[in-house]
Amino acid sequence: MKQPSYHRVQPTVPPPPSGCPIDHDFSPFSATYVSDPYADLAPRREQTPVFYSKKLGFAVVTRMQDIVEVFLNPETYSSENVQDPVFPLAQEAQDILAAPDFNPVAVMSNRSEPDHGRIRQFTKGGFSNRRMRILEPYIRSRSHELVEDMTADNTSADFVESFAIPLPGDTIFRFIGFPEQDDDQLRSWCGDRLSFSWGNPTPKEQAEIAAKMLAYWRYCRDFTANKAKDPGDDYASELLAAHHDNPDLLSYREVESIIYGLSFAGHEPVTLLLTNILLCLLPRREAWNTICDKPDKIPGAIEEVIRFESPQIGWRRVTTQETTLGGIDLPQGTRIFLSLGAANHQPGEFPQPEVFDIERPNARNNISFGKGNHYCLGAKMARFEAKVAMEVLTERLPTLRLEPGQKLDRIANISFRGPTSLHVSWDSEPTCLPDHGKQA
Ligand code: HEM
Repeated sequence: MKQPSYHRVQPTVPPPPSGCPIDHDFSPFSATYVSDPYADLAPRREQTPVFYSKKLGFAVVTRMQDIVEVFLNPETYSSENVQDPVFPLAQEAQDILAAPDFNPVAVMSNRSEPDHGRIRQFTKGGFSNRRMRILEPYIRSRSHELVEDMTADNTSADFVESFAIPLPGDTIFRFIGFPEQDDDQLRSWCGDRLSFSWGNPTPKEQAEIAAKMLAYWRYCRDFTANKAKDPGDDYASELLAAHHDNPDLLSYREVESIIYGLSFAGHEPVTLLLTNILLCLLPRREAWNTICDKPDKIPGAIEEVIRFESPQIGWRRVTTQETTLGGIDLPQGTRIFLSLGAANHQPGEFPQPEVFDIERPNARNNISFGKGNHYCLGAKMARFEAKVAMEVLTERLPTLRLEPGQKLDRIANISFRGPTSLHVSWDSEPTCLPDHGKQA
């Protein structure tokens, strides 16, 4: 049986659903949205909670109750479009991706039931509490090393480049089993992938990125083949063993595709989470000092960042049948943009949603990791990695602060949010010397 491909190409944009209010201005690529998506969507959430964005070609869903309804009804709202390019691809890019060996298949985020559940039974074991505890010494000692490198001869740095990019990349790449010498190449492909599936590249850029996606996939295939010959103590080898023992339940192509998918999912959003944590906490000195003095407050602070300034503020679905959502009739094939960010700032769900409060009792009710059968497989890993990183940063650099007057640049895209650089500084005296080497 032919399996659904990982990235499908939409030939055309479907017409707007009749009866759905049409918004001619809203676009996640607009400067207004990129600068403050919550303010951009707040009046729309109150007046037209489900509306059709003419510029995006999607029905936009902004209220928590409607988003939860979508997530909990996968037979009506399919996730098969979550890895597709947002806009139809230019012919040149399509020609590149028509290479006969560009054949990743949909595996988790973009695969429908019952196959999704069949595959997830083999992938979830790697993300248990026990596995996180095994990972902890690595994350902790790597965090200390990165702080040491960052502070060696300096009292200021770009936090994104020095810490927020390397830590999640190193963690997920070692977890999967990629060799260290390929880290830079893999990181660069992850950035390309963000533009490919969630951005709005020009036709020329699309062709360039398509060539890189082909190279990225070929790399994952070669890597999997080498692991099959020479297994190690890593997640890729575990998946291959699961395929070996259950060839009818987990195919070899699915293993290759899981590796292709996880290398992005485990890296990019965690980089943005670490960056957004500092972006939220450093200017709010009282909150920062609280977590420096009381590390047990770190998980609550992280959860509030995941609500207030989530690294993932939008996700997609497509209707498989005619349905009604928030009182709006939607025909089969309606593409849906779920504004997780708007729901995370909904006043009825979170009192005074524009106040950042590390003690907020229900911050964990945020919808940033989704809900239901596709609930983020890596949520535990992301929270855990951020907790360990913040324990190290607050212990080593309590005087950390944002460099004043910096302009924050963000890559316009429909799903991910966080600045591309964040300049920080600190007092030169070393604060404390860790004994982390013993834990490594
Ligand atoms: C703060 C960081 C992260 C955020 C905000 C985030 C968010 C999300 C969201 C919104 C979904 C889609 C849920 C749905 O469609 O219902 C998702 C799915 C997924 N995420 Fe994450 N994620 C993060 C980190 C990670 C990490 C670290 C990994 C892996 C190491 C990961 C792996 C996945 C996978 C495999 C899926 C698909 C699960 C499925 O369909 O069964 N994510 N994530």
